[in-house]
Amino acid sequence: ANKGIADPIRNPESDFSINARRGSKLVAMRRIHRDRKSKSQNATELKGSALGKVLGVKQDSSTDAQTKQPNQPIAIKEKEQSFEEIQAVRRSLPAYKVRHDLMRHIRDNQITVVIGETGSGKTTQLAQFLYEDGFTANGRMIGCTQPRRVAAVSVAERVSKEMDTPIGVKVGYSIRFEDQTSDSTKIKFMTDGILLREAMIDPLLEKYSCIIMDEAHERSLNTDVLLGIFKTLLARRHDLKLVVTSATMNADKFSQFFGNAPQYFIPGKTFPVEIIYTNHPVPDYVESAVQKALDIHLSTPISNGDILIFMTGQEDIEATCSTIIERLTEIYTKKYGANYEEQLADVQVLPIYSSLPADVQGRIFQRQEQNVRKIVVATNIAETSLTVDGIKYVIDCGYSKLKVYNPKIGLDSLRITPISLANANQRSGRAGRTGPGIAYRLFTHDSAMEDMYPQAIPEIQRTNLANTLLQLKSLNINNLSKFPFIDPPPSQNLMTSLYDLWALEALDNFGHLTKLGRLMGAFPLQPFLSRVLISASQYGCTEEMLTIVSMLSVPSVFYRPKEREEESDQARSRFFIPESDHLTLLNVYAQWKANRYSAHWCNSRFLQFRSLQRAKDIREQLLYVIRKLNLPMASSGSDWAPIRKCLCTGYIQQTAKLSGLGKYVHLKTGMDLKVHPTSALFGLGDLPAYVVYHELLMTTKEYINVVTAVDPLWLMEYSGIFYHIKRRKEQSYQFGLNSSLNNDDQDHQDKIDLQIEKLRLNAK
Ligand code: CDP
Ligand code: MG
Repeated sequence: ANKGIADPIRNPESDFSINARRGSKLVAMRRIHRDRKSKSQNATELKGSALGKVLGVKQDSSTDAQTKQPNQPIAIKEKEQSFEEIQAVRRSLPAYKVRHDLMRHIRDNQITVVIGETGSGKTTQLAQFLYEDGFTANGRMIGCTQPRRVAAVSVAERVSKEMDTPIGVKVGYSIRFEDQTSDSTKIKFMTDGILLREAMIDPLLEKYSCIIMDEAHERSLNTDVLLGIFKTLLARRHDLKLVVTSATMNADKFSQFFGNAPQYFIPGKTFPVEIIYTNHPVPDYVESAVQKALDIHLSTPISNGDILIFMTGQEDIEATCSTIIERLTEIYTKKYGANYEEQLADVQVLPIYSSLPADVQGRIFQRQEQNVRKIVVATNIAETSLTVDGIKYVIDCGYSKLKVYNPKIGLDSLRITPISLANANQRSGRAGRTGPGIAYRLFTHDSAMEDMYPQAIPEIQRTNLANTLLQLKSLNINNLSKFPFIDPPPSQNLMTSLYDLWALEALDNFGHLTKLGRLMGAFPLQPFLSRVLISASQYGCTEEMLTIVSMLSVPSVFYRPKEREEESDQARSRFFIPESDHLTLLNVYAQWKANRYSAHWCNSRFLQFRSLQRAKDIREQLLYVIRKLNLPMASSGSDWAPIRKCLCTGYIQQTAKLSGLGKYVHLKTGMDLKVHPTSALFGLGDLPAYVVYHELLMTTKEYINVVTAVDPLWLMEYSGIFYHIKRRKEQSYQFGLNSSLNNDDQDHQDKIDLQIEKLRLNAK
């Protein structure tokens, strides 16, 4: 059915040879996109002030490095809703209208599947109804899970506003590394990952009287695992209620999974949405989306309604936002001359993606004055998780960023992938909430019919499961073939993930959790990072590794504004520690600490204060776990060798070997790799022979980022089950290198050739 489409999900091989029709288009498109961005750079700079205004950037004439960072919003033409207005909105929601009927169903059944159109009030109202009906009277809480962090925070804020209480008290939220709850919390919004962690500590979830699994149709990995856990848990706790909410897709599947659990439909009115495809494939979806948005804005009255554009991620979204403003500024300058700035106030362009600071995100919900048109540019978060009111036009680029796992080479990567038809319909539907709407799809009818899957592939079937398996094993769920997966993961994914855990020594040869594995499961981290942290307590560098792991858990601390790239690159290079990005991160943190965690110090050095602060926070939380596990704390002082050794114990599969000028090959897969331009190793004349890396970025090339030079003997010693010395001759055959290189058997450590031992896990 999927003719000629690069499909990394069903066909992992296509990962590295993006092929045929759509794939090559995609590559071409990305290239155009980048070129256009650099061309428009000057224009952006010139019109910075107008741009800033519409994006809500604080206008500040200081010369701080961060002047143009769109972080601090200024209040422009927004009005806060009064409590009465909020209540009026509440009463108008479809869920509110069926409230008593709905609650009767929930009271009468242990499990209810609630189905309703996006925006009908499932997320914001259900928990409140349960609360008002006394479900917390027994001292237990109402929990509501979300697949996305952003959504968990934003709905918690909305509900606390609706209940007129400050956030974090009666209504709170908890996401990884950020807990806004208290002893008096009655309604707790959280990511599904948090609830899964809680289940590890409290397998009966005694704290809760009712759990709402929201957005279950998204089929996030953690939701799927929780559903399986609930299957047995509900039989053991008859007093626990489960409400599974879903958009219309997938609902039957949930009912069937829970033995024909009853469904409740929230009746909702939707309006027809006209769907318009392009006649020809678009070469650059950012460009097409911008043009379409401008067409709509300039040719229809603002009172018609707002525009919602679906893009794949931060980079596209930022490019779309700034290009819209740029073009509009040009057009308005021609039309109104010097008065163009005033005119620009008739539009507000709002980006929304998950790493956007919360205060900027909050702005998409703020009601605008009558004569302002909102243009919201969002990731698929706006498909169902968040409802923006007043949308009349949807522009859909047809792609989303998806985590894709290739079990053959054992790598997870984020890829821009065509969405499914179900997703496309969900996106279009956003235009028909308050009246008839129009959805512009930036792809052809043919490609929709031929290239798109009817439904998205659930995450559990396209991701590395090492982390999940570690958690299940910690829950003493050992026989995975008996675990009630709603859709089982492909056995090859299961096997490679088990293998990964075994290689990290979290599992023994029989697939049982080791003592080390149990410790690893206690950290809210990827297994390889928790392994590194635990090793650090053996090698006497816990202090340092805690900092490094925390710094790796936040968005980049280096700020690189488009118009000041060179200057910021120089500032960054001043922190470089030779041959190690990990140690560079440690250095940044140490200097920041020595400067009393100052924000000002960050600003003048192109460092993101917010990220550093968050790293500090995370550090404290990880320290708490270390203390609880009674792991020894120590510092290696000025000796960095133990830190580099420690990295080898966790990054056992993220290793590469120099092969030719400026090029590395992946030790396990033989894939060609380049050092990312932001790395401290980039451009070194003399690159280290062996490195470990933290992340692999796949764009047009494969880049490794956050890289540290290691001694190959360490790899042998600390990830010993994995590597052994191989003669160079055989090695060159193995990796297809030029065998006219040195054929002698070498034992000098720099000349050692490592090879991955082919060991098989004795899986039971
Ligand atoms: O979960 P569901 O899609 O059914 O709806 P919801 O998220 O509960 O949203 C119900 C209403 O609350 C919508 O009209 C949203 O626009 C509004 N809402 C809001 O104003 N601010 C938020 N942070 C979340 C929702
Ligand atoms: Mg919802």
